[in-house]
Order: sequence, then structure tokens, then C-alpha cells
Amino acid sequence: MLYLLDTADVDAIRKSIEFYPISGVTTNPTIIAQRGKNVIETIKEIRACIGEDKMLHVQTLGETSEDMIKEANILRDAVKGNFYAKIPVNEQGIKAIRLLKKDNFNVTATAIFTQQQALIASVAGADFVAPYVNRLDNISSSGINVVEDIVNLIKNFQLSTKVLAASFKNVEQVHQVSLSGAHSVTISPELCSNLLYHPLTQESIIDFILDGYTYYDIK
Ligand code: E4P
Repeated sequence: MLYLLDTADVDAIRKSIEFYPISGVTTNPTIIAQRGKNVIETIKEIRACIGEDKMLHVQTLGETSEDMIKEANILRDAVKGNFYAKIPVNEQGIKAIRLLKKDNFNVTATAIFTQQQALIASVAGADFVAPYVNRLDNISSSGINVVEDIVNLIKNFQLSTKVLAASFKNVEQVHQVSLSGAHSVTISPELCSNLLYHPLTQESIIDFILDGYTYYDIK
């Protein structure tokens, strides 16, 4: 399982990567807008914070495959390092994915809500497919079922694409997706902390400190 952070909040990223085994960062135009700075400025700050090795997935905004490809080139040149162009899965996006793969780009197919969207993007060559779990749950569908099906389709057709499950609002969604065999999740820094938190763990640590204090004179 790979854990990525779905945020452009550089302070929160810095704090999370100090403690957690984080493989990279994902953003989308909404997340970039929340930062309130130009996209290039923001992704350069994120790159400086996470280093060249961790993945940085940045979404294009163009509506045609030509614009998507042009933006992907500009974004990749700006951030360098381990870069993934995030491309939404409409017709223009699938064309862009096929062309970007010919040009040796790392590509993440995003805004995925169905199994067939993920399969087409995988066959087109996407390195990651990103199904949106919470947005599916919110329309009385099941994000987990969609992720499970995508994992199985990728296995059945022996595709090399990885599932980067996205759009999470709680720990249970992340847990269910982990059980499905998805390769990776992208989550907010806050949700990342919630995955680890348990009140009994906190209580046990305090008890151990109080019990062992006198006998651990090992400084
Ligand atoms: C995926 O890469 C998207 O950035 C994201 O996870 C969407 O999440 P949201 O539904 O919380 O906006």
C-alpha cells in the first residue's frame, strides 16, 4: 500500500512526511485554488518540500487533448523529479493519455467513477487510475465496490496499472479500500493522522510511562 497526500498545504505536507511513510502528493485544480497561489508556484513549493524522489501528481485543466498535453509538458518542466500528469477520463483525456505515454510521461487517469472508465484508461496506458470513493458514496453508490471491481479487472487482464483510490472522508472508507487490494490511496493529512489514532493506544502509552518511569534510568 502506498500512501499519498491529497493536498497543496505545504506546512501540512511537511508535518506528515516527517512522521508517516508518504510516497507522494496529489493535487487537483480545486486543491490548487484553495492554496490561493498560481499553480506553478504552488507545485514548486510542494516539490521543494517533498524532494525529487516522491511522486507529485498534478492535474491538467485544458479541455482538448492538445491543451492537456501542452499543460502536462509545462507542469513537468516546472516541477521536475517524479512527476505524474493527472488527466480526466473523457474522450480528450483518453487521447491525451495515449499520446503522453508515447512521450514517456507518467500518467494518472483521474475523475473515475466507473469500472469501465478505469479499464479504458488502463488499456490506454495510464500508470494509475484514481476512482473517487466518497463522491460515489455520496450519490448512494458504493465507492468500495467500484474500487474492488477495478482491482479485479486489472488483475484479470494482467494490466500494469495501479489503483490510486481517491476522495476519502473517513477511516472506514480507507480501510475497506485497503482490503480490496488497491495499490495506493491519496488522503488528506488530517485523515492520515486519524488512521493511526486510537484512544486506547494513547492511554496505554501513558500507563507504560507512569509504570516504567523509575526503572528506565537509561539516559
Ligand atoms: C483525486 O486525486 C482528487 O484530488 C480527490 O481525491 C478528490 O477528492 P474530493 O472528493 O475530496 O474532492
